[in-house]
Amino acid sequence: MSRDRRYQNVDDFQKAARKRLPKIFADYIEGGAFSETTLRRNRAGFDAYALRQRVLCNLEPEVDLSARYLGRRQALPFFPGPVGFLGLYRRYGDLKVGLAAKAAGVPFALSTFSIKGIASLAPQLGENLAFQLYLDRDPTVNESYLEACRIAGVETIFLTVDTAITSVRERDNRNGFRALQKISPGLAWQFAKRPRWSLDLLRNGMPGVELVEGRPEFGRGALAQASALSARLDKDLTWEKVRWLRDLWPGRLVIKGVSDRRDAELARASGVDGIVLSNHGGRQLDQGLASISLVAEMRAALGPERDLFVDSGFRRGSDIVKALALGADAVMLGRPFAWAVAAEGDWGCARLFELLAQEIAITLQLMGLNSLAELRAAPVDSLLSPMG
Ligand SMILES: Cc1cc2nc3c(=O)[nH]c(=O)nc-3n(C[C@H](O)[C@H](O)[C@H](O)COP(=O)(O)O)c2cc1C
Repeated sequence: MSRDRRYQNVDDFQKAARKRLPKIFADYIEGGAFSETTLRRNRAGFDAYALRQRVLCNLEPEVDLSARYLGRRQALPFFPGPVGFLGLYRRYGDLKVGLAAKAAGVPFALSTFSIKGIASLAPQLGENLAFQLYLDRDPTVNESYLEACRIAGVETIFLTVDTAITSVRERDNRNGFRALQKISPGLAWQFAKRPRWSLDLLRNGMPGVELVEGRPEFGRGALAQASALSARLDKDLTWEKVRWLRDLWPGRLVIKGVSDRRDAELARASGVDGIVLSNHGGRQLDQGLASISLVAEMRAALGPERDLFVDSGFRRGSDIVKALALGADAVMLGRPFAWAVAAEGDWGCARLFELLAQEIAITLQLMGLNSLAELRAAPVDSLLSPMG
């Protein structure tokens, strides 16, 4: 079967990634916190809304899918969110996802926990590169991150604020993910069962996290550095830190991981340019609400001026249409791009953009709409009806 036929949706990439990756990484990507209820609700939440079909409308041949992004337009209303260690799932994975985003005309938010750093990606991604910042407990480390952003000409920082507490992912505990320092016999066996992934490791060696390479306090090699980076996250995250960063960082600042309207109001008052409504893909608070069910109230709390991005559980073009109808400016996708790059590298990322864009365009047309601007201008109840 040709690749185009084989890959029809995100689930196809997920299945293929699981076949290519050692179990420890496949589980790390897929897993959620504790009982994984938030993870499941993120998906189930979309079923609470149905789309309304319109017919006999004057449709243009092309649908305008451009969306607002921090004072400018981006070509599509979705983009890859920050996912740690993309370069471990596929060599140069961060670069591959970033280049696919650039080709699609959208930004790419590079995780602090990335193999390739800002310095080496900036020349290739230019203004499409944004940086996701995890604050380290050591202020000098944070200053070095910001300095790297300044030197590279990065405009936008996504400050992640929902990880001051480290949640428990039982799959990772079972696999010993957090304690990973080097390759144990059990891990070697998992690697042996995934020869395509492992051959690359044998040929090219274990990559390191460029941003902290050469700093002995983070150890050497991505596995040790991953543990060190997580262990060193700033536990003392407060609005004061947001204001500190707002004063220090002249570019655009978005806070990621807000999912309560009181926090959205505080975000508005803190002077940030936008927020990402996110429950970290169900990886932090278990028993939480689906992100999609909070979009409308978060938009109301944030007001119309600031950008509202949303993530957690988006897999379909129609999921994205629902979020935009409810008031989001754009959607971020975490796992889908990790799976696409792990499964099929550059081609996989490009195919994922193509599939989702097509699904959004067809969905809009069947709703009788020519553009996202028309979607945003229409009253929500003319677009969506609540189910049940
Ligand atoms: C494997 C993995 C690694 C992640 N790493 C980061 C990270 O480094 N920084 C961050 O802000 N969010 C991180 N996230 C959260 C994503 O940015 C995003 O909020 C979440 O994945 C969205 O849900 P989705 O995967 O259902 O699209 C990670 C998520 C996954 C699955």
